[in-house]
Amino acid sequence: MYQPSESFPTSASVDLTALARNVAHVRRLAAHADVLAVVKANAYGHGAVEITRALQQLAIHRFGVATVDEGIALRHSGIQDAILVMGATVPAQFSELVAHRLTPVLYRADLVAAFAAQIPSGSSPYPVHLKIDTGMGRLGVPPQDLPELLEQSAFRTGLRLEGLMTHLSDADNDEAEHTESQLARFQSTLDRLHQRGLTIPLVHAANSAAIIRYPASLYSLVRPGIMLYGYHTLSRETGAPDLQPILTWKTCVAHLHRIQPGESVSYNRTFIASRPSRIAVLPIGYADGYNRALSNRGSVLIGGRRLPVVGRVCMDMTMVDVTDVQGVRVGDEAILIGRQGTERITAADLASWQQTIPYEILCAIGTRVPRRYVPHASPAGTAVQES
Ligand SMILES: Cc1ncc(COP(=O)(O)O)c(C=O)c1O
Repeated sequence: MYQPSESFPTSASVDLTALARNVAHVRRLAAHADVLAVVKANAYGHGAVEITRALQQLAIHRFGVATVDEGIALRHSGIQDAILVMGATVPAQFSELVAHRLTPVLYRADLVAAFAAQIPSGSSPYPVHLKIDTGMGRLGVPPQDLPELLEQSAFRTGLRLEGLMTHLSDADNDEAEHTESQLARFQSTLDRLHQRGLTIPLVHAANSAAIIRYPASLYSLVRPGIMLYGYHTLSRETGAPDLQPILTWKTCVAHLHRIQPGESVSYNRTFIASRPSRIAVLPIGYADGYNRALSNRGSVLIGGRRLPVVGRVCMDMTMVDVTDVQGVRVGDEAILIGRQGTERITAADLASWQQTIPYEILCAIGTRVPRRYVPHASPAGTAVQES
């Protein structure tokens, strides 16, 4: 696997003490519910194995991934806890899924039958979760089809219904109507199952926004993702907890040069200087996840000031106008996400500049960017582990 050298100036450092604080917020809000930490997509860009291990140290022992391969990667790194594969799967993946003791989320009758066929007769029933679609319009059995699905012989022989879940599509919206209707559909499905005498150990609906806003969504398990990493997409009025972004993304000034009025920077000359200018070149580009949409829109922190990206972001380099800061030198730190002095840039800022959500900003941080981990509770947080 590709390993960037230690001297590489670009890195993402992940503060595991901040992760622990965010977990404490989850626990306080989730009350009696157990926590399944969502670590799909490389733990939203933070490094799935290291984040999962850090969460184990915080007594979290259930993890959610999107794909079978993500689950297998966690198993290969020695993680033995429960891993739920929450995304779409195809029957061709089921033997690998079983071989690695992953737990599938099944969402259609034919998948239930195909999965049951993988379980050797005589072995103890294999735990599965079923997903119902209460209004996400994505994966899930329509609630009215669930009773018939549960009649399948698979649930009397090879499979054990460990979990029932749904996913909320609009829990971060100020308008509560759709979420309340999803939760009402979920609850009435559960009521019908209870009336038939069925008890399901793990019932889950809540993502981060629902954990913060909808106590009725907590059930026996919650599935936080983005709030572990220090973000949410709720409006200010919702009284969301004070989450702490855990990732700092930095690079350095690799080169400096001066240009005169009329001279341009980068591809297609989208920035033309209107004054004598000093331009810093940063060794970071869209191949590292610094999106091209930030061309002439983004800002970075250098010398404690927020300074504009000028010209097109290139594959491996980005230019910044440092004219207004005295004394910038080659090698100076440049912060893409994080704090410098009294200034701060968050993934939410980058998201607003490129019209997306913090999730996408974090997930996009590329494999060329080494992740470094500041351990939880180390003295002054100084020790740094390389990924
Ligand atoms: C099924 C499921 N549950 C939980 C989550 C976590 O959501 P969030 O990151 O908003 O907490 C996701 C993320 O997309 C998901 O797909």
